[in-house]
Formats: sequence, structure tokens, C-alpha cells
Amino acid sequence: MTDRETTADAENPEKGLKKGVTNYGDKEFSLFLRKAFIKGAGYSDDALDRPIIGIVNTANDYNPCHGNAAQLIEAAKRGILLEGALPMVFPTISLHESFVNPTAMYLRNLMSIDTEETVRAQPMDAVILIGGCDKTVPAQLMGAASADVPAIQLVTGPMLTGSYEGERVGACTDCRRYWGKYRAGEINAQQIADVNTRLVSSIGTCSVMGTASTMACVVEALGMMTPGGATPPAVTADRVRIAEQTGRYAVQLAKHGLRPSQIMTGKAFENALRVLLAIGGSTNAIIHLTAIAGRLGIEIDLDQLDAMGRETPVLVDLKPSGQNYMEDFHKAGGMVTLLRELRPFLHLDTLTVTGRTLGEEIDAAPKSFPQEIVRSVQKPIYASGGLAVLRGNLAPQGAIIKQAAATQELLEFEGRAVVFESLEDMAERIDSPDLDVNADDVLVLKNIGPRSGTGMPEAGYLPIPKKLARAGVKDMVRISDGRMSGTAFGTIVLHVNPEASVGGPLAYVHNGDRIRLSASKREISLLVSDEELERRKRAKPITPPTVERGFQRLFYDSVTQADAGVDFEFLRPKVMTDKVPKAR
Ligand code: FES
Repeated sequence: MTDRETTADAENPEKGLKKGVTNYGDKEFSLFLRKAFIKGAGYSDDALDRPIIGIVNTANDYNPCHGNAAQLIEAAKRGILLEGALPMVFPTISLHESFVNPTAMYLRNLMSIDTEETVRAQPMDAVILIGGCDKTVPAQLMGAASADVPAIQLVTGPMLTGSYEGERVGACTDCRRYWGKYRAGEINAQQIADVNTRLVSSIGTCSVMGTASTMACVVEALGMMTPGGATPPAVTADRVRIAEQTGRYAVQLAKHGLRPSQIMTGKAFENALRVLLAIGGSTNAIIHLTAIAGRLGIEIDLDQLDAMGRETPVLVDLKPSGQNYMEDFHKAGGMVTLLRELRPFLHLDTLTVTGRTLGEEIDAAPKSFPQEIVRSVQKPIYASGGLAVLRGNLAPQGAIIKQAAATQELLEFEGRAVVFESLEDMAERIDSPDLDVNADDVLVLKNIGPRSGTGMPEAGYLPIPKKLARAGVKDMVRISDGRMSGTAFGTIVLHVNPEASVGGPLAYVHNGDRIRLSASKREISLLVSDEELERRKRAKPITPPTVERGFQRLFYDSVTQADAGVDFEFLRPKVMTDKVPKAR
């Protein structure tokens, strides 16, 4: 045993099938009964004496992003058996972005509870978490962090790109681009129907640097994934080999008892945040990393994250910030190509699931070769600031903008507010020919935050009003307390905190107010006096919606704001023990 490791034996003499027996008041009888039942499935004593590796199966007919889960499970089992352990597959909730109502975000914490409790409750010495679609990986790592059983993340991998009339297309940056063209009258109903069949060419997760790809990349940097595991497309041999290797590493994790809390340290989260900035990753990942870190008592300091952003170049040329797709990133060498370039910015001594450090894994990876997807630090896509943290009287506790996917001329902007009070209000009026709106206005959408009753949807990407879209307007400054898909683009201010539904200043923006955005000054301001804001608050006090029963009640009673990861308060430790990134 090295000093990096603890042994499961030392901490927990009960391993494998003996672990956590069911309460009958007689432990030996409990084990006797457990063995009797599992033997009904044809297992031998030899098999049952081995270390057990759980495999979380999130295959689900509603989730095409996980359409290869069965193949990955077979490969992971092969790796486990080759190392002499016993694989046991079990299901949890699975969430697809487009199939759950109101949103996958609303159910992320429920999936994390499902993962935590099933991993903790059933006998396993380590667990392989098979996830991929946006909220699944954060949910699984939140659960794994809380259960603190040795765990390794396996993602399903990105889908392949397709083509439409000779143009390469992929979900879902191009979904939004083509939908924008349709709304602007640039393509007709038949053409948009044809595109619909071309955008998603295979099973797997979205093919751009959306939330799923972002989470895969940051989790590899975090050390919780087999090296090289973030980028292989879902339908490739590389993806299956990663699954087999993941099975092998899971057995080693079980033997050495290396736990998520030993891997996901403050320094490891700094590496993950650094990668998030360098890939021009999804704004959602800030919320998810905050939630995962929060489970381990680690806070994410938004101001220091912003400082980190100022010195971190965007290096990966993928949509929506750049031009290419995940399969191109994989062909360019995948994550190690980026990590090598980022080396001076990283903590190289953080542990990974292999038992080796991140620096050792970078050194052990195949040599680099000429490629054009990952730029050098000297020739970045953007010199700094993929993401920025804004503050001001409109967002006293912060807001996020993805500068790398914005229209650069709009990043310093002052305009008149055109306000929508809710999703319904927006749906009703945004395309009305009578809407009083101009290209140099600021669109404001209220009441789509965590406590709004909407599930904090990815509606922060407000559509350009039809009459402006038809006049050729492609982007406007848009502000909300909601989220935006990682695949979206535009000058969009998100996660305004505190949200409107709990009485944040956003609730008191009126049509015609002036709003100033200055990305360089990190400012988002409502140009209304403090006295006037106070007067508006007194005139219209806000009470968040109340709910009578069920998970909805649990959600609205317990959910935190964006700066605490939109997690449930009772799932986070009472005392936070670390805060990252540290000032440099
Ligand atoms: Fe599943 Fe995009 S919808 S990853």
C-alpha cells in the first residue's frame, strides 16, 4: 500500500457480498439469505467470493444519448472479469434533455439521490457510472461523492455528425442555427423537416462542446475517468476499449479503496475549472461542478473563477465557440492534447482513478502530432475568458456570460429593456407584430430560476423576435435567471442571482428601463436608482410559488440558488471546508 491509498480492508472488513447486509437482526443469517437468493441466479461460491464491481445501467428507450449502454456494459464486464472480480449491473433513473418535463435539471438531484442510495445500499466494492446526457454525469458524480464508494465515470461518448445539402451538421448548435433560419423565413417547412432527419446521425451525446461534452472533458481533468475516455465517439471501437479498460481500473480502485473524496480534491476541481475555461465549455458546467464540489464541502469562488478566466485562453476549436465537432477533437488526440498544452496551468500532482497522477498520465500518453483542433497557448481561439462572471445591481450574487459564444460588439452595450414576466408571457408575445422591440433593445426574461416552478429551463436563449429575425437580426443581448444549452450561442446573460421568483432585482425590471452590460468591466446594471428599486419592491412584494406534495414539494422547499449548484440544501454538508479556485 502506498501513502496515496487506503485499503478497503483496513476501513471496512466487510467486502464483496458481505458488505452492508440487510437488517434482520442476525448478520450471519442476513448473509446466508443473501447468498441463497443470488444463487437462484446461478452464481457459484467462487464467483460470490470475488470483489464486486457495480455497473450503473442508464440504458433507457427514452434516452438515445445512452443507446450504446448495453455494449459498454458488456465491455466493462469483460475488463472486470479479466481482473478477477464480479460485475453486477443495476439500473437507476436516466434523463434525456428532450424527454423529461419540465426539465432534466429538475430531476438531476433526484437522480443523484437514486445513485447515492443504490450505490450505498447494495454490496459493491467499486462502481462504474455509465452516463452521458447532460444531467446524468453531474447527478452520478454528486451521488458518488456523497456515497464515497470507489467510483469511476464512463461516458457513452459523442454522436457522429451528419450532412445536409453538403454541409456538415450536428446536434445541437446546428439545430438552433437552422431553427433560427426557419424563424427568419430563410428556409421553408420542407427544408426544416429534412434538416430534422440529418442533425443526429447516431446514438451518443451531442456532437459539439455542449454540456455533455463539457462534462466529459472536465471529469477527465478531475481524474474520475479512464484517461482518454472523454472524446471517443459512441459508435467507435475506441469507445468500447475505454469501457473494457474502465472495468479493469474499477477493480484496481476496489482493491486499493481509492475513494471519490481522495480524487475530487480542491486542486482537482481547479484543474476541472481550468479545462472548462480552455474548452469554451458550457455555462451549465459551472452549476454542476459547484454541486459536485459542494457535496465534498468545497465551494466554488465565482470571483476567483472569473480571475482564472482572464488568464486562461480558449484553445479548443469546437462549436458553439469554434467550428468543429467532438469527433474531430478525438482524432486530434482528445483531452491529452489539451492537457499537454495547459500543463503550466494545471496541478499535475492530483490523483486519478488509475492510481497515478494527472502529470504521470499526461507523460504516459502517446506523443503529440500536428493537428488543428487544439490550438497552442500562443495562438488561441480567444486569448482569455471563455466564461465571465458579471455583477451589478441586477445580479448582486452574480451572473454568467459565455463570452466565447457571444457577438463581440454586443459585449459592451446599453439598451432599453423589453421584459417578459414568464415563459408563457414570452411564448404569447415574442412573435407578435405589435411587440415594441428594436434590434438595439435588451430582452429580459424573468421567473425561470431554480425556485420559479419551471425547473430552471434552458430558455435563457430567448428567440430573436420574428419580425427582427426576418429583418436579418441574428443576436441581441438577452438576460434571464435561467440557463442556456451548452450548444447555444449569442450574447446571453444567465443564472442571474438572486432569481426573480425569490425577489431578486430582476423581478423589478420594467419595460423601458435602461440596462448596461460591460463584459470588460464584468458589469450587469439596471440603470434605475436604489430609491426607485426600493419603491418597486415595496409596491409588489414577491412570494415564491408553494407546492403541496411529492418531489415538487421537496424541490421547492430545498433547492439552492445557482451559486450553490441548484442542489438541495440538505444534501450539502453543513460546513464547507475549502474554497476554490485559490487566488494566484
Ligand atoms: Fe443528450 Fe445533448 S441531448 S447530450
